Amino acid sequence: MSRSTNNPTGPKSYFVKSFGCQMNVYDGERMAELLDDEGLAAVDNAEAADLVILNTCHIREKAAEKVYSDIGRLRRDDGSTPMIAVAGCVAQAEGAEIPRRAREVDIVVGPQAYHNLPELVAKAARGEDALDTDMPAASKFGKLPQRAKQAPSAFLTVQEGCDKFCTYCVVPYTRGAEVSRPWGAVLDEANALADAGAKEITLLGQNVNAWQAEDEKGREQGLDGLIHALDRIEGLERIRYTTSHPNDMTQGLIDAHGEVGKLMPYLHLPVQSGSDAILKAMNRSHSVESYLAVIERVREARPDIAISGDFIVGFPGESEADFEATLEIVRATRYAQAFSFKYSARPGTPAADMEDVFVAPEIADERLQRLQALLNEHQIAFNQETVGKRTRLLLERDGRKPGQRIGKSPWLQSVHLETDAPIGAIIDVDIVSAGPNSLAGTLPERAAA
Ligand code: SAH
Ligand code: SF4
Ligand code: F3S
Repeated sequence: MSRSTNNPTGPKSYFVKSFGCQMNVYDGERMAELLDDEGLAAVDNAEAADLVILNTCHIREKAAEKVYSDIGRLRRDDGSTPMIAVAGCVAQAEGAEIPRRAREVDIVVGPQAYHNLPELVAKAARGEDALDTDMPAASKFGKLPQRAKQAPSAFLTVQEGCDKFCTYCVVPYTRGAEVSRPWGAVLDEANALADAGAKEITLLGQNVNAWQAEDEKGREQGLDGLIHALDRIEGLERIRYTTSHPNDMTQGLIDAHGEVGKLMPYLHLPVQSGSDAILKAMNRSHSVESYLAVIERVREARPDIAISGDFIVGFPGESEADFEATLEIVRATRYAQAFSFKYSARPGTPAADMEDVFVAPEIADERLQRLQALLNEHQIAFNQETVGKRTRLLLERDGRKPGQRIGKSPWLQSVHLETDAPIGAIIDVDIVSAGPNSLAGTLPERAAA
């Protein structure tokens, strides 16, 4: 992937596009900060950028294949291309195969190597190969710049990688083994985010609730200990965490939902299937019963908690009865929100070899529709329950209409309203109407003095 550049001093501007999960959004922000430090200017579209970074996702075939059409679209009317970097999970999974398939690609950088991006950009500018998919033992985090200017709601990666090896999933291969960032490093970053204006922090990890580290006194702490420490940061008003594995929901973490006022009443707890046979084939290492028992304990600790989940339909061997069991667990749990996907066979994963029991695509499609119809019904009902109630909103951005702002409720619902209150303010709102994906609110009438 050598490049004859007419810009020997390297790119002056950059654009980062992140796909996939929230961790990629976080990584995209960190890459941007690295390039800012190098004096490159951020631009808001690929057309205007000397360097375009596609921060990719490998989770399903569609997501992974999309990269190649996106690369093709970067070619400009005069036939030239910007410097192109492929980052993220496709970079990790496909490595040197990417520039072989798409010769325009100049840089390939994996999720554990992106602290080396400035060096790779310099190499590419000199026309040298620039590929780094190493997973070094030393963490990239120590080499990233301090957090600066922040939106009201910020992501903070505390745990990365996965040791669970669900049989359908590429994440253990693209993100590597489970690693927890140290206590001090996480609290330093959280303090820096709060100083820079963040009101809400969402702790991120592929298995965020498996996070553990020693605190400053050498005591072993889990995610609940970290949440209690974050609770003491002044200016920080809201704490969230995602994604959790059912087996790592400790009683301490469940209790934190009842104890820490800043911990928002929302839990994303994927179950994937409602059939024990399929859960076993998925290597989920929990049962329907143990999952439902966790949900019950969480609801005891925090009765108003909203539960969200992920589902896969059409996993190899899924029968109609297995699928019905998934509908059953959905009815039992009543998710406030959920993500559901058709199984996608991923190269290198054990489930991809279960070809003899693959579910026909039209059956999977039909099941996905039935599941989504049920999930939507519950989501609308959940949103409708908030109509007529007063709640607190964190104002996150401007709406489309003049004077309109969009904020988030404690239950992660988007609420539109008209207000002069600034972005970043937390205000009371009365919910007046609700649709499947967003709510409308008004400011409460001020009580007569
Ligand atoms: N670590 C998280 C998220 C993993 S990826 C967790 O365990 O929940 C996010 C979601 O993508 C998964 O929860 C799963 O529902 C879905 N997913 C992962 N691999 C998939 C595949 N091969 N086909 C379809 N959906 C998949
Ligand atoms: Fe993938 Fe399972 Fe790990 Fe989640 S827990 S990242 S689904 S292997
Ligand atoms: Fe996708 Fe990688 Fe996240 S595969 S979902 S970007 S961890």
